[in-house]
Amino acid sequence: MKEKLEQLKNEIKEALENVKSSEVLKEMEIKYFGRKGKLTTLLKGIASLNAEQKKEIGQLANEAKGELMAKLNESKAVISPEEKSKAYTDVTLPGQAIEQGHQHPVTLIENELEDIFTSLGFMILDGPELESEYFNFEALNIPRHHPARDMQDTFYVEEPGGERRRKEAKDPSTSLGAGGEYDLVMRTHTSPMQVRAMLKYGAPLRCVVPGRVFRNEATDAVHDTTFNQLEGLMIGEGISVVNLIAVMKEMLKGIFKKPVEIRVRPGYFPFTEPSLEVDVRCTQCDGSGCPACKQSGWLEMVGSGQVHPNVLRAGQIDPDKNSGFAFGLGTTRLAMMKYGISDIRLFNSGDLRFLEQF
Ligand code: FA5
Repeated sequence: MKEKLEQLKNEIKEALENVKSSEVLKEMEIKYFGRKGKLTTLLKGIASLNAEQKKEIGQLANEAKGELMAKLNESKAVISPEEKSKAYTDVTLPGQAIEQGHQHPVTLIENELEDIFTSLGFMILDGPELESEYFNFEALNIPRHHPARDMQDTFYVEEPGGERRRKEAKDPSTSLGAGGEYDLVMRTHTSPMQVRAMLKYGAPLRCVVPGRVFRNEATDAVHDTTFNQLEGLMIGEGISVVNLIAVMKEMLKGIFKKPVEIRVRPGYFPFTEPSLEVDVRCTQCDGSGCPACKQSGWLEMVGSGQVHPNVLRAGQIDPDKNSGFAFGLGTTRLAMMKYGISDIRLFNSGDLRFLEQF
């Protein structure tokens, strides 16, 4: 066994010294070191030796294997640069295109809106998607058990045990702790940020809040369960819906780069008084009627109005001194109108054929 091992070691060493190409080296690796290779088979024979021989031969075998493996790696390192230098690059072959990611159409719209509103002196704020029921409803003049809550059905968030989480909104700066424990909800609109912003910045105030909102909706071409809105809020002395309409027009001109026809009609929101809905002439059919505008020629785009005194009070702003307007723009719908998309459900479909067009 000892001689055999010595013989094989010399044979391998000699072969390694003469090897010139990586193909031959690979063949050798299999011939000697592979699963059924000569060295592997010889080493397997050690198992049948007695204890004393096992110890002696085993040690020799390990040393030999280590030495040969080192030599093999050395040969590999020498051969590869040599072979590489022989390789050449065919510069006439077409290159491999690097795939670039790009922004979602709603992100594009949000970025444009942020630029427009920054130029009008508005701050850009961000708010939580998982929101306290207090800010989503109560602070907006929608008390618990009031029928107005039915306007926006939402997703209440439960504790793992199944119990709804009654979250105590104990914040000394807002005195929300007074008698209140609140559930967490996936926010149904960006409006909860109205009171959060008032509490943080006071009056005068100009801010917009882009973000994702969630509703328990039956979906159709213009309704989804997850969509984006942009909240706008302006508070100061003597601010009214007149300012609101001027800001709306400026915003739509900035987005569509041409005058678009809008229609302002009375609406109802518990947190504004008076309330207005702003519709945009459907860009899909130019107003002649299509599924995107439900054959009406108009698409409801913005809910808005003069901020209700109760909401100002919840934001610790004196309604006798200050007034303001607020609006909630459906940014996903705006993207539909700007890019001529006929079905809102495409935005969250994850369909690359849709997304790659932007
Ligand atoms: C609201 O969400 C109010 N918070 C808006 C508001 C803010 C009013 C501030 C007054 C003051 P509304 O549910 O109408 O209102 O939604 C506002 C806009 O979001 C709609 O005009 C529409 O453009 C868009 N929108 C509403 N529901 C959906 C939906 N399911 N899918 C896609 N877009 C929607």
